[in-house]
Amino acid sequence: MKTVVQAPGKINLTLEVLGRRPDGYHDLRSVLLPVSLFETVEVEERADDAVTCRTVGEGVDVAALADLPLERHLAVKAVRAMQRLCGTTRGCDIRIVKRVPIGAGMAGGSADAAGAMAALHRLWGFAGRWEALVEAGASVGSDVPALLHGGAVLMEGRGERVSAVLRPDDKPPPPFWLVAVFPGYSVSTRQVFESWTPRLTAGADVCDNAISSVRNGDVRAACLTAYNGLQDTVNRLHPETERFCLALREGGALSALLSGSGSAVFGLAESRAHALRIQRSLPKNVWSKVVSTLPDGVMAAHGFLMPRVMVQIHVGQPS
Ligand code: C5P
Repeated sequence: MKTVVQAPGKINLTLEVLGRRPDGYHDLRSVLLPVSLFETVEVEERADDAVTCRTVGEGVDVAALADLPLERHLAVKAVRAMQRLCGTTRGCDIRIVKRVPIGAGMAGGSADAAGAMAALHRLWGFAGRWEALVEAGASVGSDVPALLHGGAVLMEGRGERVSAVLRPDDKPPPPFWLVAVFPGYSVSTRQVFESWTPRLTAGADVCDNAISSVRNGDVRAACLTAYNGLQDTVNRLHPETERFCLALREGGALSALLSGSGSAVFGLAESRAHALRIQRSLPKNVWSKVVSTLPDGVMAAHGFLMPRVMVQIHVGQPS
């Protein structure tokens, strides 16, 4: 059997770093929004216990993965986590079409892992609890639980506590349109967190305001509350990053912000047409994409897996 998952990357509308933890990680509070930039993760079962992983880039450079040992690919770590969860040693072949830039703070690697977990959940018929899946995802990467959950989420702890921003009775709000820009260099999440120093935190209502703005689909309200507690640190480590935010603002973005630990930045727009105009104002040699957020998740509508998993499953053919 083969399963193909379209697993989205993300941006963080807000990212508050609440403090360093004894285990070296940081406690976070973040309103995380998946975006319509998808990694295609194809997982095919094998009769033996071998695991393979091949990645091709579509519009993004994947040279950095060439020398990465197999077991360090997040998708392969996800396979190992699912093997433990399902009590199996069965192998699989993974093929990834990568569209999310590497080291950009847009969770491309975590999307690969979430996609592989969702595919194996289907192929191997994982029947355990949602919480066990989230825990396994968190052991692979801090953004994996949020992407497994799908849709706009409030992410807390080191990333393992995720809850839906939309309430069951909320009407699906209009998405936000934005231009994501990858400056061409990767940023090490670990280095950014290690260089982070406690400073004045965001206003107490940042998170609540961000949640309301997503529920209402109110991009202007979102701009007023957009915040990234890692931005100063990243600007210090990579001063060029601020230049890309400036270019987005000069191009007409309502606001421009770092995504996650960077290096990607994004500019929020009034509409798709507005986002396209902003994109046209950017230097042509810079990677940029016009995308929309996926506030209510696409998977829920498809009804696959458990209702909260939002990645799309397209194919499930007998091999
Ligand atoms: O979990 P993930 O592999 O994505 O994290 C990469 C690195 O970022 C961690 O090794 C850690 O140094 C840092 N990190 C952190 N606090 C978090 C998430 C990540 O310090 N909540």
